Amino acid sequence: MAGYLVEDQRKVTTSRLMEMKQQGKKIAMLTAYDYTMAQIVDGAGVDVILVGDSASNVMAGNMTTLPITVDQMIYHAKSVVRGVKRALVVCDMPFGSYQVNASEGITNAVRIMKEAHCDALKLEGGEEIIDTVRTILAAGIPVCGHLGLTPQSINKFGTYAVRAKEEAEAEKLVRDAHLLAEAGCFAIVLEKIPAALTERVCREVHVPIIGIGGGPADGQVLVLHDMLGMNKGFSPKFLRRYADLHTVMTDAIGMYVTDVKSGDFPNADERY
Ligand code: KIV
Repeated sequence: MAGYLVEDQRKVTTSRLMEMKQQGKKIAMLTAYDYTMAQIVDGAGVDVILVGDSASNVMAGNMTTLPITVDQMIYHAKSVVRGVKRALVVCDMPFGSYQVNASEGITNAVRIMKEAHCDALKLEGGEEIIDTVRTILAAGIPVCGHLGLTPQSINKFGTYAVRAKEEAEAEKLVRDAHLLAEAGCFAIVLEKIPAALTERVCREVHVPIIGIGGGPADGQVLVLHDMLGMNKGFSPKFLRRYADLHTVMTDAIGMYVTDVKSGDFPNADERY
């Protein structure tokens, strides 16, 4: 198998990620939503597996991440955790589960940690949710921040275009990143912002910055199904496709259909 490298087989922890930033070692993060894929992703050396609320799009076919529920996120996260030995497993808190107030946020956070057995949670937003972030951190639950394009706010943004191109939004993002890092977040995802802004945040903020469509950072994250080429309809500039699984799977399934219909499958060796 070509080209992957796992230097350290120990379970990845939040403090290990901090060391990686300090040592200039890049962090590889990918999403997963089920046991089988999580086993493959973990075995290939990914450091952090995100049970993203992108499950709402990728697994359930919704247009946005908004409909997915706490129960559904717990189901996905539990399945992923069962397949993982090494990677740190981070679960997204879904829309509506932490925005109302800190009390609801901590109740849902504790429930996800207890039932899913994941290692950490991710929340979208900065100053607006900082009290909730602090309350969750105070309960001993590691939190990953998420700034820039925050898909749970798509109805406010009205577009999936690049965020923080204007100075005011860029300065707010930098302030929010400092706030999250000082509160104790172990990492921050920066989604779809100019590369120069990502570079500034990586330099100014002491915690690992994980980019998606934000140029070079301390680490990168992609949606698994996108980087494997399973989703032909989604091809933003930042996405690198490492396989064309849509074609591979369609061809394989097409051959199966042909063989069943022709009577070629099962043959004499494929029966009892
Ligand atoms: O839900 C998700 O997959 C995410 C990534 C895009 C960072 O939040």
